[in-house]
Amino acid sequence: MAFLTPGAIFLSRCLVSLLLPSAVIAGTRFILKTQFDIFIPIWALVTGGALGIPVVIIAQLVWAEIYQRRRAAALGARFVPRVVGRWPGNIDVLIDAIEKMRNSYPADGQWDLMKHYGTTYNFYLTWEDTIMTYDPDNIKTILVNDFPNYVKGGKFRKAMASVLGTGVFNSDGEMWKFHRSMTRPFFVKDVTSDFDKFDRHADIAVEKMKERSRAGYAIDFQDVISRFTLDSATEFLFGKNVDSLADDLPYPHGVAASHKMHSSPAEQFSKAFTHAQYIVSERSKLGWIWPLLEIFEDRTKEPMKVVDSFLEPLVQYAIEKHDSDDVKEKDEHSETLLDHLVKLTTDRNVLKDELLNILLAGRDTTASTLTSVIYLLAINPTVLDRLREEILTCVGTSAKPTYDDIREMKYLRAVLNETLRLFPPVPFDVRQTVHETTWPSKDPTEKPMYIPAGTNTAYAVFIMHRRTDLWGPDALEFDPDRFLDERAQKYLVHNPFIFVPFNAGPRICLGQQFAYNEMSYMLIRILQNFSTITLDIDAQSPETRVPASWAKVPGRQSIERFWPKVHLTMYAHGGLWVKMNLAGYT
Ligand SMILES: *[C@@H]1O[C@H](CO)[C@@H](O)[C@H](O)[C@H]1NC(C)=O
Ligand SMILES: *[C@@H]1O[C@H](CO)[C@@H](O)[C@H](O)[C@H]1NC(C)=O
Repeated sequence: MAFLTPGAIFLSRCLVSLLLPSAVIAGTRFILKTQFDIFIPIWALVTGGALGIPVVIIAQLVWAEIYQRRRAAALGARFVPRVVGRWPGNIDVLIDAIEKMRNSYPADGQWDLMKHYGTTYNFYLTWEDTIMTYDPDNIKTILVNDFPNYVKGGKFRKAMASVLGTGVFNSDGEMWKFHRSMTRPFFVKDVTSDFDKFDRHADIAVEKMKERSRAGYAIDFQDVISRFTLDSATEFLFGKNVDSLADDLPYPHGVAASHKMHSSPAEQFSKAFTHAQYIVSERSKLGWIWPLLEIFEDRTKEPMKVVDSFLEPLVQYAIEKHDSDDVKEKDEHSETLLDHLVKLTTDRNVLKDELLNILLAGRDTTASTLTSVIYLLAINPTVLDRLREEILTCVGTSAKPTYDDIREMKYLRAVLNETLRLFPPVPFDVRQTVHETTWPSKDPTEKPMYIPAGTNTAYAVFIMHRRTDLWGPDALEFDPDRFLDERAQKYLVHNPFIFVPFNAGPRICLGQQFAYNEMSYMLIRILQNFSTITLDIDAQSPETRVPASWAKVPGRQSIERFWPKVHLTMYAHGGLWVKMNLAGYT
């Protein structure tokens, strides 16, 4: 059905259920006429059919409500507090959420809902339950304790399918197990601590940044680092570096015009992939009505053409390599994920889906965190100085950091953790329940909360990581020491589920150790070479600068000086433009 738009498929399904009342009436008319000789005119039939549509819909909603109330009562539970909007179906709440996703700070508006409804509530958008939670116990239930009952599920899968296909982030059950078991061997310790996988790319990236700095220009750090993670990931996982760092870096706003800019394939891929992710995450927010916005076109089609054409040569390369005999002779150690994958299937679509999912896991998240770290260091020079001090003491000004160096560097790890706390690369996520269940209430005198089967349960680590009641009154501040001083004992050690940047349970991030190493290595290399980092807002294109209206909003939003946005992962809208001073060692 590839030629049908999501909207067309959706409408044809709706049509069937909507025609039901007309069919019933037509049947009744026929019986009345043939058996009792009572004649109903056609106009009455059509009106009846039209009026019947809302009747059927309302009847279904009422029935669902009655059913849920009875089930909740039977389990001694209560409903999760429902958000009460102004318009039917909370359409106003939905429009507001989409508007904020497009034009505001992550989770803007949700803090108010939390104050009003508590840390677990039901958005109840377009008459559909969407349970949102910021609560560490519930998140633990979803990810670990009751893992089998919380799947990605059909709703998520349909919304994501045109981008993520059947890859690891979009599959459950056997398909998911297949992906996991295939990927796991590539993250064993001797592989993840082998820095040869990325040190060459790190050198090139640092050299590029030095060149631009010497010329006096600001650098879009997000762009450089996304290329670094793209080149490292494609080499490590697929055995074929796409060499995106070889292309010219972009110039700052205002300067750009005087340079002839051609956009490289890697840049086009990045843009298109960002766009595609944005669309699917908007679908997920819209809930079941999303296909109605895509009646005439699948909005991911154009960007995915670009993404596919970028991946095609990699797939081709893998298949050719597989066909040539020498690969079979190779020892297991030099086998890449792609080599391994091609042994199991040569289905181009499966290969392409897997590549894209792994790139999302290995490239976007690491680039996201490194971008956030550089931003936070730029606005916290004392932290930057202390981190440099640790680096220069442990590693020196030019040596390559080793695995043991990195393990020793407590402050570095705390800086990364603190960054992952404030800007988790996957800030929001969702699962769908298989069976009905209940979640205990915070207040033990209250009944537990009823969670129906087939319901979306969304969780926002972004908000949980910033809750002052979980992290202390200074939760919104960037202070790496909270992972080292008595605050770690006081908050985190007793309650480790308040910090889950890598998820937890059976779906925990496989690349966690690899990511810490890669990020640490890169950060060390950068700070060996540069002594200061400052934001350069003027280098940013004007429409991506932080809106003045943010200054009046409570929370970090009022002090933020870059624009964090979220699709499936977090990124800096318009890039992160910084000026960096070369370190002058004497
Ligand atoms: C800077 O980084 C490069 C490569 O990443 C390294 O070779 C060099 O020694 C570093 N330090 C200085 C002071 O240039
Ligand atoms: C950083 O967080 C991880 C959990 O992801 C934890 O195991 C580690 O102890 C933390 N380290 C520091 C120094 O904060």
